[in-house]
Amino acid sequence: MSTQEQEKQTIHLTVNGKEYALCIGDTVGAVAPSDTLTHTLRETLGLTGTKIGCDQGSCGSCTVIMNGKPILSCMTLTVECDGAQVTTIEGLEDAATGELHPLQQSFVDNSAFQCGFCTPGILMSAKSLIDEDPHPSVDSIKDALSGHFCRCISHYEVIEAVREATAKEGEHE
Ligand code: FES
Ligand code: FES
Repeated sequence: MSTQEQEKQTIHLTVNGKEYALCIGDTVGAVAPSDTLTHTLRETLGLTGTKIGCDQGSCGSCTVIMNGKPILSCMTLTVECDGAQVTTIEGLEDAATGELHPLQQSFVDNSAFQCGFCTPGILMSAKSLIDEDPHPSVDSIKDALSGHFCRCISHYEVIEAVREATAKEGEHE
């Protein structure tokens, strides 16, 4: 097989700043044409922080940021992601110090999760929101998180956690 043909059979992904070149195929470590991005992240790359709730685009648990936008990774085929920049929950903490992202810390401080299954997806949508608008209104927060379902807690804590992490100087209670 020529190098050009081999390149056509390879998916290039950058996940949390790390580059991957994944062969398309059915062998171990390869990407099958039917693999979703969730499957590739969890099973091929070992990034199990991204969760599968419904696996049909309804709950938001599998949300990651791709090329700056939140997407449902359970509804995205990996073969469609060649060249994409992906950020998962594992990429939120400070890579140098291991410190939690302020959003993550605010979720801890506000008890904004219980089992935590929905939390990575919510955090990725919140991160994408504040990348565009560092001080979003409560309505914007509600709008950005409207596709996420949590079975354990009230969404009020979640909204408060994002609000507190993103409030302007002097707005903190
Ligand atoms: Fe993807 Fe529910 S697991 S939306
Ligand atoms: Fe359990 Fe949201 S914290 S599903």
